[in-house]
Amino acid sequence: MTSILILNGPNLNMLGKREPDIYGATTLPRIEAACSAHAEARGVLLSFQQSNHEGTLIDAIQAAPENHQGIILNAGAYTHTSVALRDAIASVDIPVVELHLSNIHARESFRHHSMIAPVVVGQICGFGAAGYILAIDAMIASLNESMA
Ligand code: DQA
Repeated sequence: MTSILILNGPNLNMLGKREPDIYGATTLPRIEAACSAHAEARGVLLSFQQSNHEGTLIDAIQAAPENHQGIILNAGAYTHTSVALRDAIASVDIPVVELHLSNIHARESFRHHSMIAPVVVGQICGFGAAGYILAIDAMIASLNESMA
């Protein structure tokens, strides 16, 4: 069965409490539960990981191909700063979908640039928690496309 890793970076464990006007009132466990229900209906398996640490995220990306066919990554602020995360994504041969709850292009200018955008399949941003569901469907479409 197709397995997808949903990997969340720094401060995403704070969803629900953190700037709810920007990120919404939903918590990460609630998002993960909604993702699991959606994935079950689509016949795919999901795993979840969250870390506030850049190296742990890199370890998770490097290990992902052993167990997963794709990664949905909300890298949080590391999106805008981390060459190391970009290199980790480029080093694995499974697709990565970049995800953000907020529309990073409509916010502060330092959020407009994504270090990882050039090495991912595509980017979903601005749809709040629903973006996670959209990202699952985008990943499934991308995997189906590559198998066609
Ligand atoms: C974020 C956007 C980033 O700019 C920010 O640093 C985050 C969350 C989002 O989901 O909208 O931590 O990735």
